[in-house]
Amino acid sequence: MNSIAVCFVCLGNICRSPSAEAVMLHQVALAKLADRIIVDSAGTGDWHIGHPPDDRAQRSAKRRGYDLSALRGRQIAADDFARFDLLIAMDDMNAAALAQICPPEHRDKIRLLMEFATRDDSRVVVDPYFGGDEGFERVLDQCEDACEGLVKALRAQLVV
Ligand code: 4NP
Repeated sequence: MNSIAVCFVCLGNICRSPSAEAVMLHQVALAKLADRIIVDSAGTGDWHIGHPPDDRAQRSAKRRGYDLSALRGRQIAADDFARFDLLIAMDDMNAAALAQICPPEHRDKIRLLMEFATRDDSRVVVDPYFGGDEGFERVLDQCEDACEGLVKALRAQLVV
């Protein structure tokens, strides 16, 4: 039996990637794959290391039943490229920042989250940090859509 490890990556690790982590953990549990799929998140920047998720992200998530309160910001580290099977970026800037520090043999592990969405055809999850509450709702809508597709894609890679 194999397992698959995924790390969601945004800029600060306090809005989008912790939201994706919580949504993914919920969907992985629903799919009864909690023992096979490992989920984490990180930021490319270092401003919010050790900080809890943004209050607005926590509030929006809580309304949908996701608890972000225990998560803490961390910055992506060199050994994450070996530890994780997929590094899933929220936008092109995050993907480019990952590619810059990624060892060449792991470059194909970098993907965009919205590649896995089936209902929303946006390319990226837009940074909600400088906007209003509706931006955080949209982040959750996009994460719910894409994580459903991601769970399906990963399930197909799991060896029974
Ligand atoms: P995130 O959002 O990348 O989704 O966590 C941001 C959080 C913080 C900042 C920018 C984006 N910032 O500039 O501090």
